[in-house]
Amino acid sequence: MIELSHIEKRFGDNVILKDINLVIPEGTVTALVGPSGGGKSTLLRCINLLEIPTAGTIRIGGEAITFAPDKRVAWQDIQKIRRQTGMVFQNFQLFPHQTAIGNVMEGLTTVLRWPQDKARARAVELLTKVGMAHKMDAWPSTLSGGQQQRVAIARALAPSPRVLLCDEPTSALDPELAAEVVDVLGKLASEGTTMVMATHDLRLASKIANNVVFLEAGNVVETGSSSSIFGAPSQERTRQFISTLNAGHSYDI
Ligand SMILES: Nc1ncnc2c1ncn2[C@@H]1O[C@H](COP(=O)(O)OP(=O)(O)OP(=O)(O)O)[C@@H](O)[C@H]1O
Ligand SMILES: [Mg+2]
Repeated sequence: MIELSHIEKRFGDNVILKDINLVIPEGTVTALVGPSGGGKSTLLRCINLLEIPTAGTIRIGGEAITFAPDKRVAWQDIQKIRRQTGMVFQNFQLFPHQTAIGNVMEGLTTVLRWPQDKARARAVELLTKVGMAHKMDAWPSTLSGGQQQRVAIARALAPSPRVLLCDEPTSALDPELAAEVVDVLGKLASEGTTMVMATHDLRLASKIANNVVFLEAGNVVETGSSSSIFGAPSQERTRQFISTLNAGHSYDI
């Protein structure tokens, strides 16, 4: 389980996240939705400690850290949380000087110090899962956006993180390529991968997410099951926002 308690994030005097309280059960997919600038990316970055919250507690599995404005967090403690997360970015961020399989193996061999053959076997397994085994020796620049994102998903999953964090995983992609990525994420969800994803993609969220969190101006306006938030939100503000989401893409998953 992932638990965020009273998470606050400030940049200078700007309070970007205000008293965020969320519980993310293992094996569930949570979609973060809301207007631009609402804090979705910042919240994801706080979960894997790319940003350090100014206050509050993050608990992932057996590890917990409590933050306070004047408290320095030990690097080892940051690593303990970060190692339980994998992150997928809007613009893929593959290492350009590594092949597809090299990208997936990199963290295993350098950070976790796995032997090459063990890392290679794990990378082949994951590239197969995301439908990219046939491109394992390709350079990122020769891959389509959808293919790059699928390699990035394999890379994020390589160390078996407890939670996969995805920041707008389909928003840089044409609908057809986005559908490939939605397919892969849907498959991971059906296998019980715990995910938290920020997305403007209504299809992605409504097809894959169990729970939806509507975040606006750093506040959780409403949370609920995907069917209740998309079907019958209780807040007028949520209703307004949902009606603006792009429902034009159609995916079969
Ligand atoms: N490093 C930073 N320094 C100062 N302000 C920041 C920083 N990172 C984010 N912010 C501010 O935090 C707010 C939330 O940004 P964030 O990127 O989390 O929003 P978002 O919900 O992901 O938006 P989008 O839908 O456009 O991706 C914005 O007002 C942004 O300007
Ligand atoms: Mg964002």
